[in-house]
Amino acid sequence: MSATPSTPSTPSTPSTPSTPSTPATSAMSASPLQLVLRNAVCLLPWGKAQVDIGICHGKIAALGQLGGVPAVEVFNAQGLHILPGLMDSHVHWREPGLEHKEDMASGSAQAAIGGVTSVFEMPNTSPPTTNLELLSQKCSLAQNRCWVDYAFFLGGSAENLLSLPQWEKAPGCAGIKLFLGSSTGSLLLHEERLLAQLLQKARRRIACHCEEESRLVERKALAQAGKPETHPLWRDEASAFLSTQKLLALAKPYGARVHILHVSTEEELALLQKARAFATAEITPQHLLLSAPECYSRLGTWAQINPPLRAPRHAEALWKALHMGLFDTLATDHAPHSLEEKARPYPQSPSGMPGLATLLPLMLNQVAQGKLSLEQLVELTAHGPARVFGTRLKGRLALGYEADLVLVDLQKKQTVNTSQTRCAWSAFEGLCLQGWPVATLLRGKWVAREGSLVGKPEGLPIEFDRV
Ligand code: DOR
Ligand code: ZN
Repeated sequence: MSATPSTPSTPSTPSTPSTPSTPATSAMSASPLQLVLRNAVCLLPWGKAQVDIGICHGKIAALGQLGGVPAVEVFNAQGLHILPGLMDSHVHWREPGLEHKEDMASGSAQAAIGGVTSVFEMPNTSPPTTNLELLSQKCSLAQNRCWVDYAFFLGGSAENLLSLPQWEKAPGCAGIKLFLGSSTGSLLLHEERLLAQLLQKARRRIACHCEEESRLVERKALAQAGKPETHPLWRDEASAFLSTQKLLALAKPYGARVHILHVSTEEELALLQKARAFATAEITPQHLLLSAPECYSRLGTWAQINPPLRAPRHAEALWKALHMGLFDTLATDHAPHSLEEKARPYPQSPSGMPGLATLLPLMLNQVAQGKLSLEQLVELTAHGPARVFGTRLKGRLALGYEADLVLVDLQKKQTVNTSQTRCAWSAFEGLCLQGWPVATLLRGKWVAREGSLVGKPEGLPIEFDRV
């Protein structure tokens, strides 16, 4: 990759789809373009096309053949692909209170380097984000410290559920997150009567962690000391299925828009298929790529997450469902814990694994292996999250949208090395992957190049459609 100071001629790439004959003008503004990205294959909403991207005032201001159009900076991206910056709608940044695991600065730095330009952050911090004051505290903490744009979920509980429908529309809020089963932290809302009250009133999409609390409590003794491989026995398939079934049954009469997070079982898929009118669903890389018993024998407690990694039949069914369009979003559930915490004997070890640094390379590696197309990846990491959560001007490589972009090299091979991240481990450490992000732009400004941060942390709250 090289920056080219002057306008290069347009070479043709034989395997590239044809170029539309768009006039080479800035359609948005009379001011000169700040940046033109030339000669890359771009993932437009309808697929791949070799077009140049012109950026002005942080937005995509021109698409087409821009050779000769005046610009402050011209970057020759020949040989690279440009995707909409990824939107990760499931991230635990741990601030406030748990900064030894991660904070907004360290977590957002990994996002920027990893090609993720929008993050929706989860409420199980310490204290948990359960009211407007705590939400606005998070917004203040994020100012001038985040390398990517952000929004924060409010956590639902028995105490705040009547206020949530007013609060969910606050600036900087991604919506409501519910834990229907206990996981990391104390947030929990599982009683049907209370859930129904909230589902009736809330207007935005509600993100839901579905594991049936009563069954988790009943089966806790199945978690055997020192044996992380018993994690999926304790938190079994039925725990996930019953909880998802319960939530969908409660949401249906109100048409409440729910988003089922980290789907982990084959059994839940039929439920989701029937509930598409009001329910959307998330898949994670780890539930697609890792399975039991191998993950537990190789990684021990490092493979311990909620809901658990399960037998290969589930991963196979999740892949099939992905190919049939059942999932709306692919998100990391980035849930870092320190090495010392993860080294505790099971089940004192906490559940969760980091994912921001590996999301894009892991999935580009799947693209290289023919398991996924770039178009599917963009659908699940940009178009899908934007549609599900109703973001404004994000997640789409189109005129007038924010220039959140990631430049990727599909040929680049590199080994996963997370030693520079705060928690300094990954379940995928040491894996050689093909396909890496090489540069990231946030609203038209470079924030990462060749694996390093550049510029300043200028992330802003994400804006949403009004509901
Ligand atoms: O494995 C998990 N870790 N699942 C969750 O639901 C929470 C997360 C965390 O915050 O550690
Ligand atoms: Zn989570």
